[in-house]
Amino acid sequence: MDFNLTEEQLMIQQAARDFAHSELLAGVIERDTTQTFPAEQVKKMGELGFMGMMVDPKYGGAGMDSISYVLALEELSKIDASAAVVMSVNNSLVCAGLEKFCNEEQKQKYLKPLASGEVIGAFALSEPEAGSDATSQATTAIDMGDHYLLNGTKNWITNGKNATYYVVMAQTDASKKHKGINAFIVEKGWEGFETGPKEDKLGIRGSDTCSLLFTDVKVPKENRIGEDGFGFKFAMAVLNGGRIGIASQALGIASGAYELALKYAQTRKSFGTEIINHQAIAFKLADMHVSIMAARMLCYKAAAEKDEGKDISESGAMAKLYASQVAMDTTIEAVQIHGGYGYVKEYHVERLMRDAKITQIYEGTSEIQKIVISRSISKK
Ligand code: CAA
Ligand code: FAD
Repeated sequence: MDFNLTEEQLMIQQAARDFAHSELLAGVIERDTTQTFPAEQVKKMGELGFMGMMVDPKYGGAGMDSISYVLALEELSKIDASAAVVMSVNNSLVCAGLEKFCNEEQKQKYLKPLASGEVIGAFALSEPEAGSDATSQATTAIDMGDHYLLNGTKNWITNGKNATYYVVMAQTDASKKHKGINAFIVEKGWEGFETGPKEDKLGIRGSDTCSLLFTDVKVPKENRIGEDGFGFKFAMAVLNGGRIGIASQALGIASGAYELALKYAQTRKSFGTEIINHQAIAFKLADMHVSIMAARMLCYKAAAEKDEGKDISESGAMAKLYASQVAMDTTIEAVQIHGGYGYVKEYHVERLMRDAKITQIYEGTSEIQKIVISRSISKK
């Protein structure tokens, strides 16, 4: 076991840190306030190879390992968790799934532009009545011979407005339950496909979340991913990796808040001394430091196992469950350490606190992660 990062991993970490400070920091409060999507910044992230980090260069990706991905996501999330989720969805939920499960034609047509950051993608599993209970898909894809007819509504779709390509799960044969679900690649602009209004959110306000509405959308047969009925397995396999991305986002939110709180505690004075000299404050920082390190180790472990080709359903869920709790706890205490200043936008920690909450909800709530983990350990 080696706890040292390689030269290349350190370089990627530094590049992500530099990018976050030079390109994301300046406008992050404004984008949060006005719910503005970081379009220009995402374009630059593509140019740096951050939108298809683990994809083979022959498909437009950067060919990096999963630890590098965790490192980059942590650095971006410290500054702008909204830009980070755009990256996480494109990498983990869209590109990774297409690279692993699509055929060569699909990869040439869709993966290349997505992995190079030329366009971005979205992943549409959730519905108004199917969030945690993801097998109960109401969106239908009826087999019409040379195409499927897609009808229904997807809810809460990240990159919903800005994506060009969408991976959409839908029920083809309800009698087969989850084994009747298929996954399809759907293009923006196809007749009958519309997006709903942008959600007005508590956090990650720079990312765009909206519903997708499908009315008799014709999806060519060649846009189905894998064999008939593979859609739910596909979604679960993709989400196992996706959870490492969200765990890394949570880790970054926590470590960003910790760094700000530490700096503040070292300079803010009360009762004639820096507040870090009050044990109540120092102990909060000690707790943050330990739990962030533990979360980071869980992220690295899951990422390393992914690269070794192991089953990461349990390790990905563990990393997400723990890191998202650490993000919540750390950001709440970071606001506390900042006192009244923590309650205003200028000091960043209130935004990080609002951003932290979503990491306990999306890509499977914390309760769902416990179901995944408990089922896994009960099999051992
Ligand atoms: N990995 C691989 N396969 C899995 C799996 C996993 N983690 N979890 C379930 N499966 C497989 C099962 O093995 C089973 O397959 P077989 O029938 O072949 O044995 C099949 O999927 C059905 O599983 P269950 O019988 O366990 O189904 P269930 O209904 O009891 O529970 C669940 C499934 C784990 C709760 C699942 O529905 C789930 O993960 N729900 C959460 C959904 C979710 O994470 N949504 C995220 C949407 S994307 C998003 O949120 C993006 C974003 O914000 C940025
Ligand atoms: P529900 O499933 O209704 O859950 C409500 C509560 O009940 C939760 O606390 C849950 O943990 C609990 N609960 C439910 N079932 C159980 C159980 N069996 N045992 C114990 N507790 C349970 N989805 C996508 O497909 N693509 C996206 O890009 C995407 N992006 C999102 C972005 C944002 C900002 C948000 C808010 C959501 C996004 N989602 C996306 C949807 C997200 O994955 C779901 O919101 C999430 O899976 C929970 O589903 P739900 O909201 O329907 O809650």
